Amino acid sequence: MATETKKKLNVPITKPALGEEEARAPFESIRSGWVTQGPKVAEFEKAVASYVGAKHGVATTSCTTGLHLALAAAGIGKGDEVIVPSFTFIASANAALYTGADVVFCEIDPRTFNIDPNDIEKRITKRTKAIMPIDQIGLACDIDAVNAIAKKHGLDVVEDAAPAIGESYKGRKVGSNAHQTVFSFHPRKVITTGEGGMITTDDDAVADRARKLRAHGMSVSDLERHKADRVIIEEYNELGFNYRMTDIQASIGLVQLRRLDELLRIRRKKAARYDEELAEVKGVEIPFVPPYAEHTYQSYCLRLTKDCRLDREDLMTNLLRRGIATRRGVMASHLEKTYTSRGNTQRLPITEEATKTTMLIPLFAEMTDEQQDWVIESLREELGTT
Ligand SMILES: Cc1ncc(COP(=O)(O)O)c(C=O)c1O
Repeated sequence: MATETKKKLNVPITKPALGEEEARAPFESIRSGWVTQGPKVAEFEKAVASYVGAKHGVATTSCTTGLHLALAAAGIGKGDEVIVPSFTFIASANAALYTGADVVFCEIDPRTFNIDPNDIEKRITKRTKAIMPIDQIGLACDIDAVNAIAKKHGLDVVEDAAPAIGESYKGRKVGSNAHQTVFSFHPRKVITTGEGGMITTDDDAVADRARKLRAHGMSVSDLERHKADRVIIEEYNELGFNYRMTDIQASIGLVQLRRLDELLRIRRKKAARYDEELAEVKGVEIPFVPPYAEHTYQSYCLRLTKDCRLDREDLMTNLLRRGIATRRGVMASHLEKTYTSRGNTQRLPITEEATKTTMLIPLFAEMTDEQQDWVIESLREELGTT
């Protein structure tokens, strides 16, 4: 039951860490008149690729379009199947659907909430072409296990690392461990360009194809034509898209990228404080981080256990009355009408349980100690301690 409360302190679920430097960053692009994809995007791509240890970065308008582009560049299309965990923002699966491929949902590991490698093989058919593991809410998935299965069956791997820029897997940066990895720079993520995404890969041919497809399939980029001292007539040899990031966004991204390690340090410190203070709150479990990962804590996810004295919606309501924003944990994509109306009848018990029992609480770099104290105190008061 929701209850009345006295004290109130507003704590949003998140807030992007944007300062004066980010506000000034697009000035040069705006004054130069080069506001669409140009030199700043090229610089941002190089900087992200170098940060994660990949050969190429291909910037896009979002992670969703980046995932679509990555799958298209890998030749995935009609008649193919892509294996995707259902426990993810619906954009992951939708990106596969955009290519004309069929989505086959798979289960997650109940502790990490990431793809369960043991479940992948059961879902492989003659039509399977790719696996899309996800680094859910910023925790690296077990990519070595996924790559091993992909290799055994000759499948492609496109890692959805939307929330995971800066995350490491066995000491290797996410972005350098799969055939293609795709990041998001939406404001819910650790660093942002407003909207934006980036594919990283070591594959020259795939990067080249993705660059062409993101700009209508044009054989020569705008920037090359602009720089050329001769007339170049471009060609369009296949159907492409307009998924270009702007130089305005990339100039902000360059500043954010320089701040990334510090932002992660702050987030991890705040997460460690939650771990310590919430471990003894009755009826909740703190996030599990396997030894191979670090976690970016794009979100801090609590699981409500059977002995939790409030149900999730009542707890969320009570916290909202105290000024604290929360969100349900991650959705189960296979239960959404987009998929059930396409005839998807899959049942995924671990995913369905996880989506009902998880809840995200506020965590962002600029969250004050007073705000964090209030979240901790409120959870203790609402649920009691052991
Ligand atoms: C796992 C995952 N994939 C994809 C996306 C989509 O990212 P974008 O908003 O950049 O398209 C999100 C966004 O929250 C996400 O969490």
